[in-house]
Amino acid sequence: MDLTYRPRRLRSSEALRKMVRETRMDAASLIYPMFVMDGENKVEEIESLPGQNRYTVDRMGEEYDKLLAAGVTNVMLFGIPAEKDEVGSQAYAEDGIVQRALRITQEKYPEIFRITDVCMCEYTSHGHCGVLCGQDVDNDATLDLLAKTALSHVQAGSQMVAPSDMMDGRILAIRECLDENGFTNIPIMSYAVKFASAFYGPFREAAGSAPSFGDRKSYQMDYHNRRESLKEAMLDVEEGADIIMVKPAMSYLDLVREVHDATDLPIATYSVSGEYAMVKAAAQKGWIDEDKIVCEMATAAFRAGADIYITYYAKELAQFIKEGRIG
Ligand code: PBG
Repeated sequence: MDLTYRPRRLRSSEALRKMVRETRMDAASLIYPMFVMDGENKVEEIESLPGQNRYTVDRMGEEYDKLLAAGVTNVMLFGIPAEKDEVGSQAYAEDGIVQRALRITQEKYPEIFRITDVCMCEYTSHGHCGVLCGQDVDNDATLDLLAKTALSHVQAGSQMVAPSDMMDGRILAIRECLDENGFTNIPIMSYAVKFASAFYGPFREAAGSAPSFGDRKSYQMDYHNRRESLKEAMLDVEEGADIIMVKPAMSYLDLVREVHDATDLPIATYSVSGEYAMVKAAAQKGWIDEDKIVCEMATAAFRAGADIYITYYAKELAQFIKEGRIG
């Protein structure tokens, strides 16, 4: 055969395949989501997320040691408070669960970069991401509480805040509040393009944050929409977001690409609890090769344009990168 182009030539050896790889990864791009809870001396396995735990603040070090050994240095903290109320007051309490976890982390594990999820749903008795007015979440009344929460996280040692509530105008409200208090250098990673998704199911069980009535469709996005993700992303860029997130990851990689091409900000994507749980369940059944699937999913996210990948598989991925099993 007289073929000019033989793409297979560059696939003929491991050395060549690695040389021409288009997507390369680094553990520095990974963020590990971690659950902290009230109480003492407890590590609880999360039933819906096998292999993931909830830690009391005195036991978080066990996870940090494992993360650091694998080469993961970025964590995003989620708090599970002892008490919830209508206005989620434990979200912005000085001695709230995340605030305490931050102080301990800063003091004992300064090499860990501390990111915090800013939302009300883990702290409200009704499980919605803001304060209620009747049956609906009151957008503007919630903004003050989100800004207060972000500020209290930063005062306790958060190095980057990540609002996940999907209220309109919250990036501006948080930016103004942080700036007024002298925290002009703390970045905001916005969950800008966040869909109302069944993929969050296992997380809500982990954090006890499922809404007690209704759903989140009046604030999280409708997954039928593509152009709306650009609208949400651009609004957050204008309001001062530093990093734009698309969430979930796997079923939304088209939007990772679109938002990446439409903005000049770093793009994060969150491989959420349902993605992790599906892989784990199938692996436990012996139906898939867990390690290979995890590598393929992560590579696809970076190939789609993500700069940052938030994943419950951060330790495993860092290990695979170190071993040269993936880019
Ligand atoms: C809080 C929040 C959620 C997740 C991240 N931040 C739950 C939700 O919006 O219901 C989901 C993360 C995951 O599923 O892994 N609002």
